[in-house]
Amino acid sequence: MVRPIWMETERYGEYSKAGEFVYDHPFLWGSRRIGPDLHRVGGKYPHLWHVQHMEDPRSTTPRSLMPAYPWTLEAELDFEAIRGAIAAMAKLGVPYGSDEIENPVALARLQAKQIGLEIEAQQGPAGLESKQIVALIAYLQRLGKDIQTPPEASPKSSP
Ligand code: HEM
Repeated sequence: MVRPIWMETERYGEYSKAGEFVYDHPFLWGSRRIGPDLHRVGGKYPHLWHVQHMEDPRSTTPRSLMPAYPWTLEAELDFEAIRGAIAAMAKLGVPYGSDEIENPVALARLQAKQIGLEIEAQQGPAGLESKQIVALIAYLQRLGKDIQTPPEASPKSSP
Protein backbone atom coordinates (compact mmCIF):
# COMPACT_ATOMS: atom_id res chain seq x y z
CA MET A 1 0.00 0.00 0.00
CA VAL A 2 1.11 3.54 -0.73
CA ARG A 3 1.21 5.31 2.61
CA PRO A 4 -0.24 8.83 2.99
CA ILE A 5 3.13 10.54 3.36
CA TRP A 6 4.81 12.87 0.92
CA MET A 7 7.82 10.76 0.04
CA GLU A 8 5.53 7.86 -0.87
CA THR A 9 3.01 9.83 -2.90
CA GLU A 10 5.85 11.60 -4.75
CA ARG A 11 7.32 8.28 -5.76
CA TYR A 12 4.29 6.03 -6.23
CA GLY A 13 1.30 8.32 -6.72
CA GLU A 14 -2.00 8.68 -4.88
CA TYR A 15 -1.96 7.01 -1.48
CA SER A 16 -3.97 3.81 -1.03
CA LYS A 17 -7.54 4.03 0.25
CA ALA A 18 -9.22 1.41 2.45
CA GLY A 19 -11.99 0.89 -0.09
CA GLU A 20 -9.46 -0.24 -2.69
CA PHE A 21 -8.89 -3.46 -0.74
CA VAL A 22 -12.46 -4.11 0.35
CA TYR A 23 -12.90 -7.09 -2.00
CA ASP A 24 -9.48 -8.67 -1.43
CA HIS A 25 -9.89 -12.16 0.03
CA PRO A 26 -7.36 -12.68 1.44
CA PHE A 27 -5.92 -9.17 1.55
CA LEU A 28 -2.39 -9.10 0.17
CA TRP A 29 -0.74 -6.50 2.33
CA GLY A 30 2.73 -7.45 3.37
CA SER A 31 4.58 -6.51 6.51
CA ARG A 32 7.80 -5.72 4.71
CA ARG A 33 8.45 -4.03 1.39
CA ILE A 34 11.65 -4.94 -0.48
CA GLY A 35 11.02 -3.73 -4.01
CA PRO A 36 9.04 -0.62 -4.97
CA ASP A 37 5.39 -0.33 -3.91
CA LEU A 38 3.21 -1.95 -6.58
CA HIS A 39 -0.20 -0.60 -5.63
CA ARG A 40 -0.20 1.98 -8.45
CA VAL A 41 1.77 -0.06 -10.98
CA GLY A 42 -1.31 -0.72 -13.17
CA GLY A 43 -0.80 0.90 -16.57
CA LYS A 44 2.72 2.09 -15.74
CA TYR A 45 4.40 -0.28 -18.21
CA PRO A 46 3.31 -2.13 -21.36
CA HIS A 47 2.54 -5.87 -21.00
CA LEU A 48 5.78 -6.80 -22.75
CA TRP A 49 7.81 -4.99 -20.09
CA HIS A 50 6.24 -7.25 -17.45
CA VAL A 51 6.96 -10.37 -19.53
CA GLN A 52 10.63 -9.41 -19.78
CA HIS A 53 10.85 -8.23 -16.16
CA MET A 54 9.38 -11.44 -14.72
CA GLU A 55 11.52 -13.61 -16.99
CA ASP A 56 14.68 -11.69 -16.06
CA PRO A 57 14.43 -8.52 -13.94
CA ARG A 58 17.99 -7.56 -14.92
CA SER A 59 16.89 -7.22 -18.56
CA THR A 60 14.67 -4.21 -17.77
CA THR A 61 16.39 -2.92 -14.62
CA PRO A 62 20.14 -3.66 -14.82
CA ARG A 63 20.98 -3.85 -11.10
CA SER A 64 17.67 -5.25 -9.85
CA LEU A 65 17.90 -7.72 -6.98
CA MET A 66 14.46 -9.11 -7.69
CA PRO A 67 14.38 -12.87 -8.30
CA ALA A 68 13.38 -14.09 -11.77
CA TYR A 69 10.12 -15.99 -12.34
CA PRO A 70 10.83 -17.55 -15.78
CA TRP A 71 8.45 -20.47 -15.31
CA THR A 72 5.47 -18.11 -15.43
CA LEU A 73 6.11 -17.88 -19.20
CA GLU A 74 5.98 -21.66 -19.55
CA ALA A 75 3.55 -22.97 -16.93
CA GLU A 76 0.00 -23.48 -18.16
CA LEU A 77 -2.74 -21.39 -16.62
CA ASP A 78 -5.46 -23.45 -14.93
CA PHE A 79 -8.49 -21.67 -16.37
CA GLU A 80 -10.94 -24.15 -14.83
CA ALA A 81 -9.76 -23.19 -11.33
CA ILE A 82 -11.17 -19.69 -11.93
CA ARG A 83 -14.73 -21.06 -11.71
CA GLY A 84 -14.37 -22.09 -8.06
CA ALA A 85 -12.42 -18.96 -7.15
CA ILE A 86 -15.11 -16.65 -8.54
CA ALA A 87 -17.90 -18.62 -6.85
CA ALA A 88 -16.08 -18.38 -3.52
CA MET A 89 -15.46 -14.64 -3.93
CA ALA A 90 -19.11 -14.05 -4.86
CA LYS A 91 -20.16 -15.93 -1.73
CA LEU A 92 -17.92 -13.65 0.32
CA GLY A 93 -19.70 -10.62 -1.09
CA VAL A 94 -17.57 -9.56 -4.06
CA PRO A 95 -20.12 -8.00 -6.42
CA TYR A 96 -19.42 -9.95 -9.62
CA GLY A 97 -22.14 -9.67 -12.24
CA SER A 98 -24.15 -12.66 -13.46
CA ASP A 99 -22.00 -12.90 -16.60
CA GLU A 100 -18.82 -13.30 -14.55
CA ILE A 101 -20.44 -15.83 -12.23
CA GLU A 102 -21.91 -17.88 -15.08
CA ASN A 103 -19.09 -17.69 -17.64
CA PRO A 104 -15.86 -17.06 -15.72
CA VAL A 105 -13.72 -19.45 -17.75
CA ALA A 106 -14.81 -18.13 -21.14
CA LEU A 107 -14.33 -14.52 -19.97
CA ALA A 108 -10.87 -15.27 -18.56
CA ARG A 109 -9.86 -16.99 -21.82
CA LEU A 110 -11.07 -13.98 -23.77
CA GLN A 111 -9.09 -11.59 -21.58
CA ALA A 112 -6.01 -13.83 -21.79
CA LYS A 113 -6.28 -13.93 -25.58
CA GLN A 114 -6.49 -10.14 -25.69
CA ILE A 115 -3.40 -9.76 -23.50
CA GLY A 116 -1.55 -12.36 -25.62
CA LEU A 117 -2.37 -10.40 -28.79
CA GLU A 118 -1.24 -7.14 -27.19
CA ILE A 119 2.08 -8.74 -26.19
CA GLU A 120 2.56 -9.87 -29.79
CA ALA A 121 1.67 -6.41 -31.07
CA GLN A 122 4.39 -5.05 -28.78
CA GLN A 123 6.88 -7.36 -30.61
CA GLY A 124 6.81 -9.93 -27.79
CA PRO A 125 6.62 -13.72 -28.05
CA ALA A 126 3.52 -15.46 -29.41
CA GLY A 127 1.58 -18.15 -27.54
CA LEU A 128 1.54 -16.67 -24.04
CA GLU A 129 -2.27 -16.50 -23.86
CA SER A 130 -2.44 -19.89 -22.10
CA LYS A 131 0.43 -19.23 -19.66
CA GLN A 132 0.44 -18.07 -16.06
CA ILE A 133 2.24 -14.85 -17.00
CA VAL A 134 -0.94 -13.43 -18.60
CA ALA A 135 -2.88 -13.87 -15.33
CA LEU A 136 -0.11 -12.10 -13.46
CA ILE A 137 -0.08 -9.29 -16.02
CA ALA A 138 -3.88 -8.97 -15.86
CA TYR A 139 -3.56 -8.59 -12.09
CA LEU A 140 -0.65 -6.13 -12.18
CA GLN A 141 -2.29 -3.94 -14.82
CA ARG A 142 -5.43 -3.68 -12.66
CA LEU A 143 -3.59 -2.64 -9.51
CA GLY A 144 -4.52 0.78 -8.23
CA LYS A 145 -7.05 1.50 -10.98
CA ASP A 146 -10.24 1.40 -8.91
CA ILE A 147 -10.34 4.98 -7.85
CA GLN A 148 -11.01 7.63 -10.40
CA THR A 149 -9.58 11.09 -10.58
CA PRO A 150 -11.95 13.31 -8.63
CA PRO A 151 -13.73 15.94 -10.70
CA GLU A 152 -12.44 19.50 -10.58
CA ALA A 153 -13.95 21.38 -7.67
CA SER A 154 -16.57 23.79 -8.97
CA PRO A 155 -16.15 27.43 -7.93
CA LYS A 156 -18.19 28.32 -4.88
CA SER A 157 -21.32 30.19 -5.83
CA SER A 158 -22.11 31.43 -2.34
CA PRO A 159 -19.93 32.09 0.70
C1 HEM B 1 5.43 -12.49 -8.03
C2 HEM B 1 6.25 -11.72 -7.33
C3 HEM B 1 6.70 -10.36 -7.81
C4 HEM B 1 6.12 -9.53 -8.72
C5 HEM B 1 4.82 -9.71 -9.51
C6 HEM B 1 6.96 -8.35 -8.78
C7 HEM B 1 6.71 -7.28 -9.62
C8 HEM B 1 7.52 -6.16 -9.72
C9 HEM B 1 7.27 -5.02 -10.57
C10 HEM B 1 6.04 -4.85 -11.47
C11 HEM B 1 8.29 -4.15 -10.42
C12 HEM B 1 8.44 -2.78 -11.09
C13 HEM B 1 7.96 -1.69 -10.17
C14 HEM B 1 8.10 -0.30 -10.72
O1 HEM B 1 9.00 -0.03 -11.53
O2 HEM B 1 7.28 0.57 -10.36
C15 HEM B 1 9.20 -4.73 -9.46
C16 HEM B 1 10.37 -4.17 -9.06
C17 HEM B 1 11.19 -4.68 -8.09
N1 HEM B 1 10.99 -5.82 -7.36
FE1 HEM B 1 9.56 -7.19 -7.66
N2 HEM B 1 8.02 -8.50 -7.93
C18 HEM B 1 7.91 -9.71 -7.32
C19 HEM B 1 8.76 -10.24 -6.36
C20 HEM B 1 9.84 -9.60 -5.83
C21 HEM B 1 10.67 -10.11 -4.76
C22 HEM B 1 10.46 -11.46 -4.08
C23 HEM B 1 11.63 -9.16 -4.52
C24 HEM B 1 12.74 -9.12 -3.54
C25 HEM B 1 13.21 -10.15 -2.88
C26 HEM B 1 11.39 -8.08 -5.43
C27 HEM B 1 12.16 -6.94 -5.51
C28 HEM B 1 12.01 -5.94 -6.44
C29 HEM B 1 12.94 -4.84 -6.63
C30 HEM B 1 14.21 -4.58 -5.81
C31 HEM B 1 12.43 -4.04 -7.66
C32 HEM B 1 13.06 -2.75 -8.26
C33 HEM B 1 13.99 -3.10 -9.40
C34 HEM B 1 13.26 -3.69 -10.59
O3 HEM B 1 12.47 -3.02 -11.26
O4 HEM B 1 13.47 -4.87 -10.88
N3 HEM B 1 10.31 -8.35 -6.21
N4 HEM B 1 8.70 -5.96 -9.05
